[in-house]
Amino acid sequence: MIRFALFGVGLIGSVHANNIATHPGTTLQYVYDVNAEAAQRAAARYGARVALSPDEIWATYDVDAVLIASSTNTHADLLSGAIKARKPVYCEKPIDLNIERVKTVVQEAYHSNLPIMIGFSRRFDENHLGVREAIQNGAIGNIEMMHLVSRAQEPPPISYVKVSGGQFRDQTIHFFDLVCWLADAAPVEVYAAGAVLVDPAIGEAGDIDTSMLILRMPNGALCHIDNSRRTTYGYDERIEAFGSAGMVQSNLKPTREVALYKGTKTISDGLHASWFERLQPSFAVALATFVQVLEGNNVPYPSLMDGLRAQIIAEAAIESLHAHQPVKITYWQPE
Ligand SMILES: NC(=O)c1ccc[n+]([C@@H]2O[C@H](COP(=O)([O-])OP(=O)(O)OC[C@H]3O[C@@H](n4cnc5c(N)ncnc54)[C@H](O)[C@@H]3O)[C@@H](O)[C@H]2O)c1
Repeated sequence: MIRFALFGVGLIGSVHANNIATHPGTTLQYVYDVNAEAAQRAAARYGARVALSPDEIWATYDVDAVLIASSTNTHADLLSGAIKARKPVYCEKPIDLNIERVKTVVQEAYHSNLPIMIGFSRRFDENHLGVREAIQNGAIGNIEMMHLVSRAQEPPPISYVKVSGGQFRDQTIHFFDLVCWLADAAPVEVYAAGAVLVDPAIGEAGDIDTSMLILRMPNGALCHIDNSRRTTYGYDERIEAFGSAGMVQSNLKPTREVALYKGTKTISDGLHASWFERLQPSFAVALATFVQVLEGNNVPYPSLMDGLRAQIIAEAAIESLHAHQPVKITYWQPE
């Protein structure tokens, strides 16, 4: 049984707590959250202990792995603590708000040989996996264009927006990772344009809520990502890859595949109410994959280096947004 310590039991931490408790090979041993009441609630629900500080977890022998699901601005310190304590980590995206801090923690981890997985949970969505399979087995030939749509049903609370690092580091980062994972290549250039069209409070917090990006891939292929923080029709996520020999799509996923034909109209079920309902299964698959890694299986997973790569793209996109021009992406490697 793999004993987990969980940092952060907010929205996504609660999902992870439930997945750890229900996976047959894992148990929730400790919970730590600066919100002591939330920690107590989660611990009571899953029979875990409440840790009074991260140090308590680093010092204990009865924790085999940690899951970091606290606010983004806490990830790097917790990652650093876990590396020093030699605990394997599943860490939510993004690694940190500050790219220099990200590089420091990546350097700390580089020679540690510890499994560190970043929460790019969309890689575990069965439809997105189908797109990758079609690309990787050559079914669509050479990729020439990709189109990714990321439109959330409603903005997160302003308190979340303020510590999220902004739309590119928070929302689009999943799609930067997907582009690299799907194409097995990293973009060389990005052009980003953004606007505040959904909620002026997001603009006042220094962020944007609507954006379009164009990424240029090393083979010249072009990739378009569009992001919104609001739809009026549920959660809208789609991927299309167009190649020299065909095209593959991960389509909109309705709640049910039911269509009612009546007169001259067809009435179909609509989209999931939120990103969580649409993507919920992928979180359990991601955890199960991490467990396989911890058990010594050679399975692919989104690594800390993948987290770094996506974050470098996000930083270049932010630079492009402010400069109103394309920016070359320079990657960085630990030594
Ligand atoms: N993979 C995904 O699709 C996905 C989805 C949602 C959120 N996330 C990521 O998960 C993280 C949390 O997001 P959320 O939506 O659950 O936010 P949230 O605000 O709902 O929860 C954050 C929790 O962290 C706790 N916290 C804050 N500082 C802490 C510290 N120093 N130590 C321990 N706990 C601390 C807060 O009290 C809160 O309970 C963010 O980094 C976010 O980017 C990933």
